[in-house]
Amino acid sequence: MKKTLLLLTAAFLLLAPFTQASRPGEPIQVITPAKEINIAMSELGKKLYFDPRLSKSGFISCNSCHNLSMGGTDNLKTSIGHGWAQGPINSPTVLNSSLNIAQFWDGRAADLKEQAGGPIANPGEMAFTHELAISTLQGIPGYVREFELTFGTPEIDIDKVTDAIAEFEKTLVTPNSRFDRWLLGDDEALSDKELAGYQLFKQSGCIACHNGPALGGNSFQKMGLVAPYQTENPAEGVAGLTGIDADRFKFKVPTLRNIELTYPYFHDGDAETLAEAVDIMGRLQLGRTFTPEENSKIVAYLKALTGEQPSFALPTLPPSTEQTPPPNPFED
Ligand code: HEC
Ligand code: HEC
Repeated sequence: MKKTLLLLTAAFLLLAPFTQASRPGEPIQVITPAKEINIAMSELGKKLYFDPRLSKSGFISCNSCHNLSMGGTDNLKTSIGHGWAQGPINSPTVLNSSLNIAQFWDGRAADLKEQAGGPIANPGEMAFTHELAISTLQGIPGYVREFELTFGTPEIDIDKVTDAIAEFEKTLVTPNSRFDRWLLGDDEALSDKELAGYQLFKQSGCIACHNGPALGGNSFQKMGLVAPYQTENPAEGVAGLTGIDADRFKFKVPTLRNIELTYPYFHDGDAETLAEAVDIMGRLQLGRTFTPEENSKIVAYLKALTGEQPSFALPTLPPSTEQTPPPNPFED
């Protein structure tokens, strides 16, 4: 009895520093690693994510525009699609995208599964059709085996393809940033400047839109709330879906996780640096012009939001065979 009590006390003393030190009431929560992942499905999804044979050219994969070595983006103003087509809008990161209330800048896909079907058949992206993508996969014996092992049937369809890609994308979370370590109670994790930047971020009102574990991704807000945003990009935001004038320039608030890696910024990719993006946000969303010193504090804070990047062995893709339809890189 006494022994158990002693052990319990010891366990409490061990845990106490951590539990006491966590910071309740903060408007931002730590990113937690994905739970309940179907490993077989996610491994298959990883292959599909990296497989350019889902595109007409045999050259463009999801990773072309959402490069996992570059924060899940292409670091371009707007993406390059089939036939070097100039994309209409900046490619958002796939990192932590499972935390979004909906997918795309205007939220037109409800979830990752619905989203994943889009780019394959988009003429300006992978320029394939779902039917051709499926017949390509069906013509690769290694995939047929893996779909059978994962889903219990060798029949491949777009539903299974998007299920697998979405399952892999759920694993693309980035825990353990220095800010998260601070949230968990590690006072040393942030410098004084970074902490001052966080206070300014909260006090000046950024937190009204950039909150929750992803610091965004959970609401649609108008770009240019206090003063209008000037851009050559024709994207209308949510109004493009609803036709409602009040929705003009409403976009899904982007996550600020890993923001140092995901330049350039905004839906039009017009802001090249974080300093520029923070300056524009201050003026257009809050009516506040930051001094260079304030700006650099907020930027320092934002850079502490870079988490552990996905890390795994590059998948080896099953080879094509005589039965696999050949790619068409130079056809429109
Ligand atoms: C040619 C470049 C390109 C390719 C290839 C591409 N994407 Fe995208 N992706 C984009 C762009 C651009 C957007 C934003 C489009 C919009 O919002 O209208 C986007 C949006 C997304 C989003 C939504 C993120 C968010 O925060 O709203 C996800 C998730 C995503 N893509 C995953 C994928 C997957 C999975 C594939 C492969 C099947 C893929 N993408 C292929 C360029 C690309
Ligand atoms: C009223 C809501 C709102 C407020 C307040 C707000 N933002 Fe934003 N933020 C947005 C929206 C919406 C976008 C996307 C705009 C676009 O792409 O056109 C955005 C985009 C950004 C981006 C670029 C992200 C990317 O991936 O392109 C950064 C950085 C940013 N905000 C930082 C801040 C900072 C710092 C503050 C405080 C000074 C702030 N925001 C205040 C809504 C807000």
